[in-house]
Amino acid sequence: MSKRVIMAAGNWKMNKTPSEAVEFVNSLKDRVAGSTAEVVVGVPFVCIPGVIEAVKGSNIKVAAQNVHWEPNGAYTGEVSCKMLKDLGVDYVIIGHSERREYFAETNEMINKKARAILDAGMTPIICCGESLTQREQGVTAEHVRYQIKVALLGLSAEEVSRIVIAYEPIWAIGTGKTATTEQAEEVCGIIRELLVELYGKDTAEKTRILYGGSVKADNAKELFAMPNIDGGLVGGASLKLDEFEKIVKHDA
Ligand code: 13P
Repeated sequence: MSKRVIMAAGNWKMNKTPSEAVEFVNSLKDRVAGSTAEVVVGVPFVCIPGVIEAVKGSNIKVAAQNVHWEPNGAYTGEVSCKMLKDLGVDYVIIGHSERREYFAETNEMINKKARAILDAGMTPIICCGESLTQREQGVTAEHVRYQIKVALLGLSAEEVSRIVIAYEPIWAIGTGKTATTEQAEEVCGIIRELLVELYGKDTAEKTRILYGGSVKADNAKELFAMPNIDGGLVGGASLKLDEFEKIVKHDA
């Protein structure tokens, strides 16, 4: 079976103002037109309306970086799936290690968010990954399997075939220390094997699994060529036009 469509997804985190965001995607859309990879920009909530407008007619899709699972209600400061869908958002990043660490996001919350995102007709990008201590203790596989198993509870095989999973070892995020291609491939393979166990081979073959953690123009090609790696969730390098363009065109 041929490999899945590669995804180059930027996670801007808390960077760029709404006007900077529009300026950025206006330049990006010409640079990545016609790319073989699917291009996604994960932008701050306040940038979403302007960015959606700017990317109309281009091949760039827009992701939010968080969402609440309830449809509405007294949740000061939160944003619902319906609100994001109404703006034209396609993807929502959930379970990022920064949200787990600084905002106490749990696997159970991530599971509720995944359910709500799918019900709203959007696609979750579910992040997982071990800390340096966990890697050194030799529990990476158990930890990542547990995170993903709980995040996916109650999802159908058909839904799992459409979601995106991002393996992001915490020790490689923003550190400049990329996992080796072999380390990244090994854990992405473990995740795919878990999907085979839970949902069968046909489903597991369809689900896209990204690698994230210091992805750059000079390592994207090798990473994305691995059998179980279907692209990247890119932080710092997605804020720079030249770098992100090269990551999108990794195979050019
Ligand atoms: P960096 O690419 O800056 O290491 O960030 C990775 C990440 O957290 C993407 O979600």
